[in-house]
Amino acid sequence: MTFTNPQQEIEQLREEIRGHDRRYYVDAAPTITDQEYDQKLDRLKQLEAEHPGLLTADSPTQRVGGEPLEGFRTVAHARPMLSIDNTYDVENLSKWAQRCYEALDPQLAEIEAELAAIDQREESIKGKRDKASQAIRKQGKEQRKTLEEKKLRLRAAAAETGYAIDGGYLAEPKIDGVAINLRYENGLLVLATTRGDGARGDDVTQNVRTIRSIPLRLAATETLPAPEVLEVRGEIFMPHAEFRRINDAFRDAGEEPFANPRNATAGTLKQLDPTAVAERRLQFLAHGQGEVAGAQFETHTQFLDSLATWGVPASPLAKLCKSIQDVWERIEKFDSQRDQLSYEVDGVVIKLDRYDQREQLGTTSRFPRWCIAYKYPAEQAVTKLLQVDWQVGKTGKLTPRATMEPVFVAGTTVQHATLHNYGEILRKDIRIGDTVIIEKAGEIIPQVVRVDLEKRPANLPPIEPPEKCPDCGGEVESEHDDAGKETARYCMNPECPAQLRERLIHFAARGQMDIDGMGEKIVLQLADAGLLNSFGDIFELHSKRAQLLELDRMGEKKADNLLAGIEAAKTRGLDRVLCGLGIRHIGSTVARILAKHYGSIESLQAATREEIQTFQTDGQESGIGPEIAASIHHFLHSEAGQHVIEELQSANVTLAVSQPTEPNTPQIFAGKTFVVTGKLEKYTRDEIHTLVEQHGGKASSSVSKKTDYLVAGEKAGSKLAKAEQLGVTVLSETAFEELLPTENS
Ligand code: IVH
Repeated sequence: MTFTNPQQEIEQLREEIRGHDRRYYVDAAPTITDQEYDQKLDRLKQLEAEHPGLLTADSPTQRVGGEPLEGFRTVAHARPMLSIDNTYDVENLSKWAQRCYEALDPQLAEIEAELAAIDQREESIKGKRDKASQAIRKQGKEQRKTLEEKKLRLRAAAAETGYAIDGGYLAEPKIDGVAINLRYENGLLVLATTRGDGARGDDVTQNVRTIRSIPLRLAATETLPAPEVLEVRGEIFMPHAEFRRINDAFRDAGEEPFANPRNATAGTLKQLDPTAVAERRLQFLAHGQGEVAGAQFETHTQFLDSLATWGVPASPLAKLCKSIQDVWERIEKFDSQRDQLSYEVDGVVIKLDRYDQREQLGTTSRFPRWCIAYKYPAEQAVTKLLQVDWQVGKTGKLTPRATMEPVFVAGTTVQHATLHNYGEILRKDIRIGDTVIIEKAGEIIPQVVRVDLEKRPANLPPIEPPEKCPDCGGEVESEHDDAGKETARYCMNPECPAQLRERLIHFAARGQMDIDGMGEKIVLQLADAGLLNSFGDIFELHSKRAQLLELDRMGEKKADNLLAGIEAAKTRGLDRVLCGLGIRHIGSTVARILAKHYGSIESLQAATREEIQTFQTDGQESGIGPEIAASIHHFLHSEAGQHVIEELQSANVTLAVSQPTEPNTPQIFAGKTFVVTGKLEKYTRDEIHTLVEQHGGKASSSVSKKTDYLVAGEKAGSKLAKAEQLGVTVLSETAFEELLPTENS
C-alpha cells in the first residue's frame, strides 16, 4: 500500500499493531511472526521520529515513556473499591445464596409485608379486651400461621431449586494478584490506580501502560462506541513461568527472591522506573467496573461481552450457573484443573449476573452483598509447638502467640502463629511440645489447625491461661459466647502500660495520624522514658525538647523532625483521629463514613446511638450496625473518651473533616480545577497539586469539561490533546508559576 501522507500511514500502522497486540496478548492467537511485528513497530517509530507533531500518547510506541517517577501520587477512587466476603465451605456458600434469593423473591417479600401488617394491627389494639379486638387477635393468629406455613413452603421450594435466581450466578476464577482500576475517558486509558485502602489508591498509570494486554485505546466500533467514562477493574498478576524467571535472575544476582507471584506483582507495580516494569511480563484480566458514564449494561455478562469487543481481556473461564449446586460443581471441577493454569488461582468468585439485583442487595461498609469468594483450602504443614506468649493488644485483649519450629509453607518460612484466645487453645487441646498442623492462605497469618494427638509425648501439661496481665499484673476478665465458651480475655487495668503503648503505636502509624518519625520503636522509647502517658502527651512533646534530647540516639535533627511530624499530623482530619483512637469496631472505613456524615466531633457527640445506627448516606444505609454504633457512642460519652477529646481539642488537633489550607494563603484558585501532565522541570506533579489545593483549587487526574487549566510539561500526550479539543486553558510551568501570588503580596 502506498500512502499519500505520513499521517495516514501512521494511523494505519497503529491500528494494525493494536490488532496484533490484541491477537497476541489477549486472544493468544497471533497471525504474524514476531519479526513482521517488529518491522511494523520500527516503521512506526521511524515515522513518528520524523513527524513529532503526529505523536500521540496512545500510540503503541508509547507504552514506556517519560522519566522514572519520584514517588506515587495517591488518587481518590470515583467509586470505592470494596473487597469481597470469603467463605471456605459449601454450607456458607449455600447460606449466601439463600440470603440473596430471599432478599430478591417478591413472594417472600409480600409475606414479610403481610406479617408486618398483622403485627401493626395487633399493636393498635394492644391491651384491649373487647370482643372485636379479641376477634382480630384470633384472626391474626390464624393468618400468621398460614403465612408462616407458606413461607416455609416457599423456602423449602427455593432450597429445592438450589436457589435458582433469575439471571443466574456467574462463577469466575479468583486470581491471586493485585487489584487495579483502569480509567478510560472517551476510549483512552488516562489513569490506572491500585486499590490502596479502598477509597484512595496509588497512581501507577506509567507502569500499567507497559502491560501489553491492557489496551491504551479501546477498540471502539460503530455499534459499540467508547463510553465517555469507563472504569474497568481487574487483576494484574504474574504468571508462574515469569515468576520463576525473575526469581532465578534474582538468585543468580545474589538478591532476595520474591515470596510468591502476588508479592512479585505488587513489587513490580511499585517500581519507580517503568522500563523495569516493562521487562517483567505482567498480565491483566478484568472482573468488574467502577464509574461508567455514557454506557449501560444490564448484566455482568453483557459488560464482559462489551469489554471483549473493546479488546479488554477477561477470564475465558467465567461460567454462568443456574443454581448453587451448579456453582458448587463448577468449583469442584475447577479445583482439579487449576494447577494446569499458567497463573495462581486461589478460589472462585461468585456474583449475581443481573445488575438490577445487585443494586437491590446493596453493600455493607466493606463488601457487596451480591458477591462472595469461595477460597480453596489453604496449604498446610506440620511442625512442633515450642512456646506460647500472651500479647496485650490496644484494647487490652490478651492474645496467645505460638512460636514453632520454622517450617516452609505457601511460599514463606513460618515460625509464629496466632492461637486467637484461650477458648481456642482448650477447644483444640493445644499443648507446648505438641506436633501441630498449621496452614497459611496467601497473606493471612498462619493458623494452628489441629494437634496430632498420636505424636503427643506422655504427660504434657495443658497450657495455663494468664490470671493476671502478663505486662502490668492487672486484673483479667474473660468473655464468653452464648454456649459459655471463652472467646476473649482482657486486661482490665485502664492504665495498663502495654495497652497504652499499643494504642499509641496504632495512633501514630500510617493510615491513622501518620506521624513522621514516630514509628513503633520511638513510641516505645518515649513511653519508657515516661514522656507519653496519653494521646494528648504526643502534642505536648514540643515543650519537652530538652528531655527528648536526652534519649538514646536522639539528636537535634531527629528531635526536630519528630516535632515537625507531630505538628503536621494535627490536620489529618476527623476520620483519621477516630480511626487512630483504637475504639472497638471503628476501623478506617467506619471512621470515614462517620466523619463524612457528621463533619465534626461536636455533631458526632450530639448524635444519639439510634441516629448513628440509622443515618443514610446518599440515600443508602451507611452499613453501620448496632454494635459499631454502641461502641462509638459509648466511647464518646465515657469519661475516658471525653478526656481524650478534650486533650486533643486543647492541642488544636483538627476534629472536623479537614480542609488543609494555610490560613493566610489567598484562595485565588477557588472553584477552579487543575490537571497536570507531562514531564515538568521545576516542580513535581505532587507539588503542583499541593500548591493548587493550598490556594483553594482542586487537583484532578483527568481532563474533562470541568477542567479549567491544564499545566503541561514536555511529552504531554493525550491529556494535552483532549484539553485542546475541549478548549481548556493550557499553561506552561512558568505560566502557572506566574499565577501564584509572590511571598509578600
Ligand atoms: S469481583 C467488590 N472477581 O479478589 C469487589 N474479584 O479478595 C468485586 N479478585 O479485591 C471484585 N479475581 O481484586 C472479583 N474474578 C474476580 C476476582 C476478584 C480476583 C480479587 C479482587 C478483590 C479481591 C478480594
